[in-house]
Amino acid sequence: MVSYKELGLVNTKEMFAKAVKGGYAIPAFNFNTMEQMQAIVQAAVETKSPVIMQVSKGARKYANPTILRYMAQGAVEYAKELGCANPQIVLHLDHGDSFETCKSCIDSGFSSVMIDGSHFSFEENIKLTKEVVDYAHQHDVTVEAELGVLAGVEDEVSAAESHYTKPEEVIEFATKTGCDSLAISIGTSHGAYKFTREQCTVDPETGKLVPPPLAFDILEAIEQKLPGFPIVLHGSSSVPQDEVDTINKFGGKLPDAVGIPESQLRKAAKSAVCKINIDSDSRLAMTAAIRKHFAEKPGDFDPRQYLTPARENMKKMYIHKIIEVLGSNDKL
Ligand code: G3H
Ligand code: 13P
Ligand code: ZN
Repeated sequence: MVSYKELGLVNTKEMFAKAVKGGYAIPAFNFNTMEQMQAIVQAAVETKSPVIMQVSKGARKYANPTILRYMAQGAVEYAKELGCANPQIVLHLDHGDSFETCKSCIDSGFSSVMIDGSHFSFEENIKLTKEVVDYAHQHDVTVEAELGVLAGVEDEVSAAESHYTKPEEVIEFATKTGCDSLAISIGTSHGAYKFTREQCTVDPETGKLVPPPLAFDILEAIEQKLPGFPIVLHGSSSVPQDEVDTINKFGGKLPDAVGIPESQLRKAAKSAVCKINIDSDSRLAMTAAIRKHFAEKPGDFDPRQYLTPARENMKKMYIHKIIEVLGSNDKL
């Protein structure tokens, strides 16, 4: 058993309470590689932001659970080395799919876990979430649950359509499970293709797709039912069109990739939404920089040559999100 406290990590409790009160959101960036981790830490330290580093089941499989745990510990030490005296870093399991996966993470140094029972019935979701909460709280680990279904693919869980969270269910769910935060469905979705052409309108000037607005009425109804309760938004990448254009210009093929407009996320961050999940934008920033590098310098083959601009581009994106979208800068 390794406690996250030994690794210098923190859970989300205090972080979320401050974010809800302060009208900003904590960035939850997914990571799989050392370059992503370095870019996340550099961005968080330079902006003085708390940060959630999250790993999916797929990330654990890709990078190895032990390596990821020590990378999180390394992130804390790296942040200190960069001059941050008191880093506020959470290691979070993204989309935990079973009690066993959550327990394994809690036992090996995670400070926060998500149990995603959103694909089960309301009663089964409550039962599973409560089981995870009971175990996690014995170890001072915080738990994110999900109510409502997002469209798109998440790890081994996929859904063709979204089902918005029903505000009338949230009080019973939060009370019966004891979860610390709640991921809701209000129109965001995972991946770089969040909306079909049919769901969007077309900007006559650029020809780019304009996605439909998020269901802020549902968010407000949930906030009224659970005042001050920490709310989480998944699927919140904005799919920056300059990165998509760079990828397409240098041999990629991402037609009609479209995300959540940053103005909508900025509005959400000022509400009880206190954790915003971003993964795809990091993938796009990394891929765009690498494709550009390969096109311009076809003779390069040392990974450091193309991973350095990739890391820089991700860092730029993380800093932009922290300052311009989430507002979590200058909070340490
Ligand atoms: O919500 C899903 C995250 O973007 C993680 O994706 O399962 O491909 O690592 P992944
Ligand atoms: P994006 O695919 O929009 O980055 O969402 C990531 C996410 O929700 C991780 O849980
Ligand atoms: Zn997600």
